[in-house]
Amino acid sequence: MASAQQLIGLVKSHAEGDEARFFDLAMQLAAAEDQKGHVRLAEQLRAWADAGKAPEAGSKSQPTLLAAPRGELGELVGASYPATRLSSLILPAPLHDELRHLVVESRHRERLEARGLHPRRRVLLSGPPGTGKTMTASALAGEIKYPMFTVLLHGLITKYFGETASKLRTIFDAIRTTRGVYLFDEIDALAGARTRGDDVGEARRVLNSFLQFLEEDPGPSIIVATTNVPELLDSAILRRFDLVLRYELPDQDAIVETVQRRLGGFQTTRVSWAQIAKAGVGLSTADLVRATEDAARRAVLSGKEAISTPVLLDAFDRRRTLQLIGNTDGSARQTSPARARRGRSEKLPARPRAGRPATE
Ligand SMILES: Nc1ncnc2c1ncn2[C@@H]1O[C@H](COP(=O)(O)OP(=O)(O)OP(=O)(O)O)[C@@H](O)[C@H]1O
Ligand SMILES: [Mg+2]
Repeated sequence: MASAQQLIGLVKSHAEGDEARFFDLAMQLAAAEDQKGHVRLAEQLRAWADAGKAPEAGSKSQPTLLAAPRGELGELVGASYPATRLSSLILPAPLHDELRHLVVESRHRERLEARGLHPRRRVLLSGPPGTGKTMTASALAGEIKYPMFTVLLHGLITKYFGETASKLRTIFDAIRTTRGVYLFDEIDALAGARTRGDDVGEARRVLNSFLQFLEEDPGPSIIVATTNVPELLDSAILRRFDLVLRYELPDQDAIVETVQRRLGGFQTTRVSWAQIAKAGVGLSTADLVRATEDAARRAVLSGKEAISTPVLLDAFDRRRTLQLIGNTDGSARQTSPARARRGRSEKLPARPRAGRPATE
């Protein structure tokens, strides 16, 4: 039978109109009954949970409302429903483990809350461009099946100068009432304005509001903030996060894994992976993906099934040249040598690699 806490959770989520949590709990109960051999009961639970899954008009977490934030909120955040999974990310195993645990905590919120604990939900990701920070936010949303709302802080401050704090309040109101993964991209815009000595008063007001809202936020939404310039961030900001993860440029193992995954389906038996690993040092994962796609395109168009080492090396070189002359295709982000050094200097624990093999 279900435990008292599970029953309370079930009734509470129903009373609060929290359909998603109700569904999760019902599924957990079904799984537990399944394990005990109560197959018929488990089936019935699943069937009833499924039947109740369609949200009623006016329920708190209504997908149609989430899909397109309207009015003022619509101008402040962009919404999406990512299908990205954590297994698509190529990251050092310790980072992978933390992210996976975050997902598990969020899925088992009831169990934690029953013991006076809470899932971690305020995450700061720092590191050089193109290392997977935004992709991580998408993967969290994809795993937890939350919509993702993206807040571009820099745009917010420029566009609503003088009113940014009140706009932030609108966003945090949504965070409380509309469950999702909220991505605050380029959070250094807050701290940066202060150190650049722009309007000190405005920047401080915004920063203070952000910290206060962050601290007061009761959940269950997940807040992911990202930055390329962690040294600009105040320790007051860092303290407010439950988890701070440092991303860095891929090491040689990760370089090979990135290229191999992208080339799934191509013939690569003649590629010298040792050369590729060396040549890719200093490029971000995003650069590697784009360079590899470039090489693959050229191979296809010249009628070759196999990808050769020189074709890949040329593509890496072109990528570096593009970086040097700046952003040419609108999607490439510049990784200056200074940025690259900064990325590499961010120390991470030793890295057995996690995630799925190359063919994804
Ligand atoms: N760690 C990674 N694992 C797998 N793919 C990655 C990774 N990092 C980057 N990529 C690839 O590069 C693309 C861009 O990465 P992403 O936008 O997540 O970088 P970012 O760290 O947010 O960069 P920025 O600081 O410029 O916003 C991803 O969509 C993905 O294709
Ligand atoms: Mg990003």
